[in-house]
Amino acid sequence: MYPPRLSPHAPLSYRSRAIDVASVVAGSGSYLPEKVLSNDDLAKFVDTNDAWVRKRTGIARRHIAADDQVTSDLAIAAARRALESAGMTAAELDLVICATATPDETFPATATRVQAALGMERGAAFDVQAVCSGFVYALSVADAMLKSGQARCALVIGAEIFSRILDWEDRGTCVLFGDGAGAIILRGEAAAEGDAPRGILASHIFSDGRHHDALYVDGGPASTQTAGHLRMDGREVFRHAVVRMAEAMEAALETAGLTAENVDWMVPHQANLRIIEALAKRLDFPMERVVVTLQDHANTSAASIPLALDSAVRDGRIKQNDVVLMQAMGGGFTWGAALLRW
Ligand code: UT7
Repeated sequence: MYPPRLSPHAPLSYRSRAIDVASVVAGSGSYLPEKVLSNDDLAKFVDTNDAWVRKRTGIARRHIAADDQVTSDLAIAAARRALESAGMTAAELDLVICATATPDETFPATATRVQAALGMERGAAFDVQAVCSGFVYALSVADAMLKSGQARCALVIGAEIFSRILDWEDRGTCVLFGDGAGAIILRGEAAAEGDAPRGILASHIFSDGRHHDALYVDGGPASTQTAGHLRMDGREVFRHAVVRMAEAMEAALETAGLTAENVDWMVPHQANLRIIEALAKRLDFPMERVVVTLQDHANTSAASIPLALDSAVRDGRIKQNDVVLMQAMGGGFTWGAALLRW
């Protein structure tokens, strides 16, 4: 149901704003580290080859952060570009949410680094950790905060340096991931009258912690006091990915009262081309209207959707008023979908 059903006990300010405010995109930006590692480069030190990686995943290359870069560096660069595209200054922001599973430090949140670097002296900044679903989770949280009146203008970032948590001897995982960051700015605006509201139209997030062992990192401050390495049962994740993401995107469409025919662009999490093609097929959605950056970025976890969004905005594909469907799935398992009118 949209607007969301509210408890009769909700404070009045929440109830009225939830109906009146839309979370509208004001700008987007992204950043990719300079260094590019091709499949052939990888084959020099791990037992793999370009043909296998392309055929099984669709990936051709990935960007890798420089030794002296941390996740907040990538996030800050993406954030600055998003502010520039929105024609805004950081003084207008009062919320920073950074989706990341590879924070600079265990604490404080990477988002607070971004807040400080942008010169923000007010508002709230925190990280959201839902691995590859992180950006959809962060959008959902930002949307709820804007609609409840807890914030007026949110910077929502997905930023990752997965190269730091990969086991570079495990060919089943190290060929799949890359580094990068993407960001969008959402502004709380009075919802437009009529039947084509802009902004976030629906978001649905889910998790099922019973699937921990299929995709996890074997370290952490409370378990091993090390950062650990990513471990994945690829086939098991693959088996769940299409079904879970399809459920989420169908829920988002239903909530917004739309069908696949109303969607202009699908911007899915970029993990595997075969998964993306299966999702498009499920909705009978043409691949020409699916944004695919996987070949150049690989899987950048929480950064993959905002990176893909920004590339399609900058090359002129996504335009104002286009309806964009995003869906993701990651460790946890976590999964979700969001629908917005750009
Ligand atoms: O973002 C979070 C969500 N993550 C995902 O969505 C990932 C989902 N899973 C996948 O994308 C796929 O399962 C993978 C790409 C990870 C693997 O593809 P697959 O078709 O499931 O391959 P597989 O793991 O079943 O392996 C097939 C064969 C194996 O050899 P044998 O046992 O058949 O002889 C592997 O050892 O391919 C071998 N293999 C490789 N060969 C060359 C595995 N990795 C590689 C490699 N290069 N990098």
